[in-house]
Amino acid sequence: MAHRPHSVVVVLSSAFASLLPLVSGCSGDDGGSGASATTTGDSVTSTGSGEVTGMTAATETETETGGTTTGAGEPAVVYYRDVKPILDSACVGCHRAGDIAPFALENYAEASMWGEILVPEIEARTMPPWGASSECNTYRYDPSLSDEEIATVKEWVELGTPEGDPADEPSPVDDEEPPIDYDVELASTLYEPTIYPDEYRCFLIDWPLVEERYITGFNIEPGERSIVHHVIAYVIPPAEIDTYVALDDADPKPGYECYGGPGGEAVPRAQWLGAWAPGIPGGPLPEGTGIHVEPGSKVAIQIHYHPVEGAEPDLSVVKLRTEAMVERPAYLLPFANPLWMLGIVNMTIPAGAEEVRHTFEVDIPSTIDFLYPNADFGLDEPVKVSMAGLHMHNLGTRGTLKVHRAGGEEQCLVDVPRWDFNWQGIYRLEESVIVDPSETIHLECFFDNSEGESSVAWGDGTEDEMCLGIFYVSAL
Ligand code: HEC
Repeated sequence: MAHRPHSVVVVLSSAFASLLPLVSGCSGDDGGSGASATTTGDSVTSTGSGEVTGMTAATETETETGGTTTGAGEPAVVYYRDVKPILDSACVGCHRAGDIAPFALENYAEASMWGEILVPEIEARTMPPWGASSECNTYRYDPSLSDEEIATVKEWVELGTPEGDPADEPSPVDDEEPPIDYDVELASTLYEPTIYPDEYRCFLIDWPLVEERYITGFNIEPGERSIVHHVIAYVIPPAEIDTYVALDDADPKPGYECYGGPGGEAVPRAQWLGAWAPGIPGGPLPEGTGIHVEPGSKVAIQIHYHPVEGAEPDLSVVKLRTEAMVERPAYLLPFANPLWMLGIVNMTIPAGAEEVRHTFEVDIPSTIDFLYPNADFGLDEPVKVSMAGLHMHNLGTRGTLKVHRAGGEEQCLVDVPRWDFNWQGIYRLEESVIVDPSETIHLECFFDNSEGESSVAWGDGTEDEMCLGIFYVSAL
């Protein structure tokens, strides 16, 4: 079984709306000039520093599962009635033939064969992969198992994985979003990845519509499921196309390699349109909101491939719903300390350091002003934050994004207690959070460079690091 060792996982998504790694931030030639961002402690702390936010994944409550047998003599927990519904909804999206997980959990034979090894993963909450801690906020499409579900699977394994009666299988819950009509369809190029274990490739496609439009929903269909870990679509405005075209031209194969995001170091930002990861349905963006796309733009489709032996080449398709107008235009805002990006303050992660912390704090109007010189909302009025996420590279270990309220309180937007570059997401808040122009967003990232031989700093290469917060904001 060729699968890579299991890393500490995690992540992804708010469904459709989710995932995104984002972007190589707002760096670039137009630089920090306009940003009136404030830097709070940009500190380096060594191991054991306090500061750890609430990140314990552990279960807090022991669930009573009752006796181990029912009166009738059937075991208290059986596959068809109790366990299959849990595996079907939380695991089978990836653990099925031809998909990215290393083994399938689709039927009794498979589930009982692997039963033993499932328990440690679900107890540690490393499976299903999901990065955001539910102690911080509540997210839509959170696939995490409840304490009770974990106890059920555990008890089933302890009882020797009893099968039960297929007739007792509950009918599946239908929680799919209603179908939506997509009017734009964009395809990547047929491609066979060759870089092991992970290849990040971007495909540049012309935006086909000639009028101003807003994206209000999307659905991404990966081609070769066994190798596609995630797909993210970004829109590149006409003014920035040249840099991307140059990157594409410089790479002889279809598309171009794009590890940290679709643009190079010089690109100020790349606006995200939609993302897909296994098990995450597509769907509408938050009600009444949409992301503006200018005519003459391009779309970059970034695909994270995890090549495996015997896979077919991939051709993935991005479907978008567009509308001429939306009630509340929205931005996806990536943000970080502009001084890091410009190299004025080094976001240093010294060689050998086991726990290095970097933080940055900024108000939303400054971020909007920096990224959108012609912003049509959000400069002097409250905004609604409905999704949040983080972006680091491979040395990242954990991070948080919080609102610092005017009155001094904090509100947690997202806390990723076990960062994993391969499973990153932007999470859709169950309840949006309104942020006043006077309030700030606080970003905190932790890195581990204990194995490293050299000091690492900001950059978008594999060997560099980033500490980026991402949130989706709309007018109220
Ligand atoms: C989003 C896709 C996805 C979902 C959902 C998912 N898995 Fe996995 N699982 C993987 C992948 C991919 C691997 C291979 C290791 C890795 O990449 O982390 C894996 C590996 C595993 C392993 C082996 C770990 C190891 O160290 O070898 C177990 C056990 C497991 N999954 C159990 C589960 C269970 C139980 C569920 C549901 C409760 C689940 N998974 C849901 C993708 C998924």
